[in-house]
Amino acid sequence: MLKIKLIANGPFCFKGSFVYIDEQTVSRDTKGDSLAFCRCGRTNTAPFCDGSHQSFSFSTQDQLKREYAVSNETLNLKDGTTVVAAIENGPLHISGTLSLVDEKHTTWQGNHVKLCRCGSSKIKPFCDGAHKEVF
Ligand code: FES
Repeated sequence: MLKIKLIANGPFCFKGSFVYIDEQTVSRDTKGDSLAFCRCGRTNTAPFCDGSHQSFSFSTQDQLKREYAVSNETLNLKDGTTVVAAIENGPLHISGTLSLVDEKHTTWQGNHVKLCRCGSSKIKPFCDGAHKEVF
């Protein structure tokens, strides 16, 4: 299972095996690496965090207890492997078993989610479509 720790006012920390597909649709098996993905939208090393969130007042106020569902546009799973796709000028789209946990140990579990990486969603960590106004 992919575990994603939500760092308050900082990045997503991914831990677990998943296939990552970048904006050019190049895939990579992460083999359990720990990776920090940007969610403030200001990194210079996209999709990864470069610490830019510390240069302004980025606030996450994650809402893991809210209801959240993505329409039925799932990604193709490879033998049950969790797939993480960076949508160009949009969220991280994830299909497969995953859990999100914040620093207060609130947990969200599911198998289909879009995570905001533009920094502007009003329902972080989830995407609410605000990226369409940002990018
Ligand atoms: S990526 Fe931020 S609202 Fe969609």
